[in-house]
Amino acid sequence: MAAPLLTLQNIHLTFGGQPLLTGTELSVFDNDRICLVGRNGSGKSTLLKIAAELIQPDKGERVVKGGATVRYLPQEPDLSTFPSTLAYVEAGLTSGDDHYRAQYLLNELGLTGDEDPKRLSGGEARRAALARVLAPEPDVLLLDEPTNHLDLPAIEWLETELKSLRSALVLISHDRRFLVDLSRATVWLDRGVMRRMDKPFDAFEEWRDEILEQEERERHKLDRKIAMEEDWVRYGVSGRRKRNMRRLGDLFQMRQDRREARRAQGNVQMTVSEAEASGKLVAEATGISKAFGDRVILDNF
Ligand SMILES: Nc1ncnc2c1ncn2[C@@H]1O[C@H](COP(=O)(O)OP(=O)(O)OP(=O)(O)O)[C@@H](O)[C@H]1O
Ligand SMILES: [Mg+2]
Repeated sequence: MAAPLLTLQNIHLTFGGQPLLTGTELSVFDNDRICLVGRNGSGKSTLLKIAAELIQPDKGERVVKGGATVRYLPQEPDLSTFPSTLAYVEAGLTSGDDHYRAQYLLNELGLTGDEDPKRLSGGEARRAALARVLAPEPDVLLLDEPTNHLDLPAIEWLETELKSLRSALVLISHDRRFLVDLSRATVWLDRGVMRRMDKPFDAFEEWRDEILEQEERERHKLDRKIAMEEDWVRYGVSGRRKRNMRRLGDLFQMRQDRREARRAQGNVQMTVSEAEASGKLVAEATGISKAFGDRVILDNF
């Protein structure tokens, strides 16, 4: 197998108290289209920032294959220091890149390039940021929530564009459809550790549940073993024989393993229930108008 384009090896990172990443591994190969999944706060964005070399881990290695280019789309892009959207996109290009493609992508995404970055909506900022990372056609594209703030036509455009690129992809997204359509492999970040399945995202839940059930079975086995050994301690240890000392040592180790195991958190069932209209008037607005220069947002609303 050819060497990976990008590898993270044995990554450790702690912010303050609880360790976030504990020996996390990630390899990105040519043609990979990986979706990176995990609970809110599990460290997905942090790991992508380490892959983009924006954060240094406490321990571990980041290796990029010689000459390979990596581009990163942040969850919250910041364009504020650039005079225009085009300047922002062009600042992401290197000498060999095609400047025409920067303008072309902005137009495809519904922007002119003249927009003032300080006055963009969330969706416009996201589209400019997408143009910036797509323009150089990097070997590896790291995308954190690329569909945030995008409307359906823009999401569909993005899907088609990403499928036509030769770049390897690592995607974080809450958009199920987007992940199912694009991914070829799924990596799951769970309690600091990464697991990879070479199947698209639609196979994720079944795979995850199997792993969690296996873990639960092993925990029961360990609990039973500890209980048996505790019985033995209570009723049977005779003398400080070497064998007995070893057996006691094993018991202490098992107890420690059990304490240190970070249990999987329960799956939160999210149900959004629609509130009934109460009939109570909460707010009333009349005759509201707002414009930015000539651009009218509300007119006597
Ligand atoms: N610079 C930082 N300093 C301290 N804690 C941080 C920092 N960045 C992130 N964290 C914490 O690390 C944890 C992981 O954050 P991260 O943004 O990587 O999660 P995530 O998996 O991307 O979550 P989400 O799905 O909500 O985007 C969170 O508990 C977060 O509060
Ligand atoms: Mg995140």
